[in-house]
Amino acid sequence: MINQRYAKITGWGKYVPSRVLTNDDLARMVDTSDEWITTRTGIKERRIRTENDTTSSMAVAASREALRVAGLSPKDLDLIIVATSSPDYLLPSVASQVQDMLGAECGAFTLVAGCSGWVYALTAASQYIISGAYNRVLVVGVEIISFALDFTDRTTCVLFGDAAAATVVEVSDEPGGLLSFELGSDGSGAMFLYVPDGGSASPISQRTIDERRQYLRMDGPEVFKFAVRTLASSLKRVIYQAGLTPDDIDLFIPHQANARIIEAAARQMRVPLDKFYINLDRYGNTSAASVPLAMVEAFEEGRLKDGDLVAMCAFGAGLTWASAVVQVGAGEISTAHSLFSVGRARYLARRASDAVLDTAQSALLPLYTFLYQRRRKK
Ligand code: ACO
Repeated sequence: MINQRYAKITGWGKYVPSRVLTNDDLARMVDTSDEWITTRTGIKERRIRTENDTTSSMAVAASREALRVAGLSPKDLDLIIVATSSPDYLLPSVASQVQDMLGAECGAFTLVAGCSGWVYALTAASQYIISGAYNRVLVVGVEIISFALDFTDRTTCVLFGDAAAATVVEVSDEPGGLLSFELGSDGSGAMFLYVPDGGSASPISQRTIDERRQYLRMDGPEVFKFAVRTLASSLKRVIYQAGLTPDDIDLFIPHQANARIIEAAARQMRVPLDKFYINLDRYGNTSAASVPLAMVEAFEEGRLKDGDLVAMCAFGAGLTWASAVVQVGAGEISTAHSLFSVGRARYLARRASDAVLDTAQSALLPLYTFLYQRRRKK
């Protein structure tokens, strides 16, 4: 009989399409170069679906691997959540396709929150578990975002790639798992990153095809500013909420959108860049698959081990963001922050100095924006 319930990640797996699209390949398609893409984003190559890949088939491949690592069969699952913005069809829910293809016998739903989708889904799965409703939930982040890319638009097509990653979240009576989280949405920025046609507001028409309105459009600099503002501040909030400081975190797993966004966050948090896991050079921005794909690879490379504390943050269309602190594996929560310890004093001092810095940074933001726009105009 479990008294205190914790939600832990016990299995993980990934699937990436075999087709590699390099920056040089893109430079043959649009007016760009390996040099521009590398210096402005950090991306060198990305994966693009083959004719055999669908969102559901990629999700199922990643899920089978996650179930194998967790030592579970599909019939053990109580729920499946699939985070994606690129389902096979508008209807049915791709989560139901995944449930059927896996041979699972449980509820399933699709969650749409742009690139933040998997972190949203992880927190939702954890609540089902902590509340006692369910014991084992499969959480998938999958994207064939290339279908919504305009490969004549150099401002978007170089940034994204296709991938799937899955995790199994299970109940445990040992402390650990999800320690804190934050979910955010600012719908006033919806039009900074959107697909104009294909929804009920603007169904597909001849105009859609003529004006290429079925493809993703993005105001890159606006999303960039939002991301830099959000990444460090949201990460800090969830870390403090967990009673920890950035120094306590073993690995930061940020959304893999742009290396410059990650570098800015590391600077703002005064955390060495090598504590941030980065694989966007090989995959680009894989949207809802981005954070779980990075986490799976961190496990595979031995950068994550039992008991490690991970701080993750994703951001994207909506605009949305989602952050969480997770202790992976079976390790117990550190007691370094008990009420009167040196760790607690360090925590309070760091939290106070960060609050002062945050206030100063917010006050200076209009100046940074002005300087940035002036630099662009030159
Ligand atoms: N190759 C060459 N030149 C390019 C390219 C390219 N691929 N793309 C844009 N340029 C040009 C622009 O046309 C512009 O030229 P101009 O000055 O003559 O008009 C110039 O480069 C500078 O463009 P900016 O947009 O100002 O470039 P910036 O340095 O801001 O970088 C970028 C653009 C990489 C898109 C950046 O703004 C960014 O990363 N934004 C965040 C994007 C993001 O994270 N999106 C995902 C959110 S997640 C989701 O939910 C899907």
